[in-house]
Amino acid sequence: MKKSLKLHLGRSEINNKEEQDIKKSDIDPEYKKEDLELDRSLRPRVLSEFIGQDKIIGNLKVFIDSARRRKEPLDHVILSGPPGLGKTCLAEIIANEMGVNFKITSGPAIERAGDLAAILTNLEDYDVLFIDEIHRLNRTVEEILYPAMEDYKLDIIIGKGPSAKSIRIDVAPFTIIGATTRIGLVSSPLRDRFGVNLRLDYYNIDNLIKIIRRSAAILGLEVTEEGLSILASRSRGTPRIANRLLRRVRDYALVSGDGRIDGTATEKAFKKLDIDKLGLDVIDKKILNTLVLKFEGGPVGVGTIAASIGEEINTIEDVYEPYLIQLGFIKRTPKGRVATGSAFDYLGVKQNKDKRLF
Ligand SMILES: Nc1ncnc2c1ncn2[C@@H]1O[C@H](COP(=O)(O)OP(=O)(O)OP(=O)(O)O)[C@@H](O)[C@H]1O
Ligand SMILES: [Mg+2]
Repeated sequence: MKKSLKLHLGRSEINNKEEQDIKKSDIDPEYKKEDLELDRSLRPRVLSEFIGQDKIIGNLKVFIDSARRRKEPLDHVILSGPPGLGKTCLAEIIANEMGVNFKITSGPAIERAGDLAAILTNLEDYDVLFIDEIHRLNRTVEEILYPAMEDYKLDIIIGKGPSAKSIRIDVAPFTIIGATTRIGLVSSPLRDRFGVNLRLDYYNIDNLIKIIRRSAAILGLEVTEEGLSILASRSRGTPRIANRLLRRVRDYALVSGDGRIDGTATEKAFKKLDIDKLGLDVIDKKILNTLVLKFEGGPVGVGTIAASIGEEINTIEDVYEPYLIQLGFIKRTPKGRVATGSAFDYLGVKQNKDKRLF
């Protein structure tokens, strides 16, 4: 093994990280560029700083330890789950813990077979290649990836027509970590080639409190226990949102108080931010209102919902719906989205009994 496998920080290749983070603002309308720097400072860098997801972390520790003992690259890993739960973070941590380089790319960035060949032939032994949005890889590229994942071989076709030749070249043993918010869109041959398949779940209140407490300490903010628990309960089970809300509440606490984030300051800030006790904002409410009031509970296609509230389909599917489903307010059915009885109750609307589906 060329490299020492001791814990080695600061070697990550983050040239296009800014691009990656800025891209978040496309999908997550609340994500502001000014949040970027702070976001980076709050990002856990080693496994011991990563809060929650205990089962996943427990398993990963075993796989990392085993790979290091065997002096082999870690098996390929695919991480899935809604945005902001820590997939990118965890991928970088895995590379750090293995003591190897962390190279970043994404499904849509690898357009042609040649792009992938260039990336793979530049890898060093045991490097981690992170492919974000792996469900957006195209088929031709996927097929080149298969032998590379299985045998560290690359089949390249040189020339065209009858004189075309296929040559096989070796690539360094490496690990792919794929991330996706839509595991259902990853083709099964690709999914099957990942030895480790991990799904991140929404965080519980206790873990969100720990995450916010850690972030507050890094930012030098004073947050009371009451402030912490209000923040946690409105964070939609998502660390990225928890950190963002902490910063917004800090802004209000600074401007209209003494900067201390206590229960009263937090409640006041949430009122201004138009975020309710469940963490639902104006857009969530628009979605529920459309389903419940306009379409009497559905079923309604997501395209129709998107058009009637003026949002992107992708944003609704990736950012808003998963949490509304988790709350038990909507269901995805083959005929479209359906509002549950709890959604009617939440909006204080009486549901026509004959139409009650859930
Ligand atoms: N377990 C955790 N402990 C502490 N902070 C966390 C944890 N998970 C995520 N975070 C925080 O949340 C932020 C968002 O995480 P990350 O960018 O890894 O999410 P993601 O799952 O990759 O999202 P996306 O699907 O949008 O790419 C991180 O910058 C970090 O500050
Ligand atoms: Mg990510």
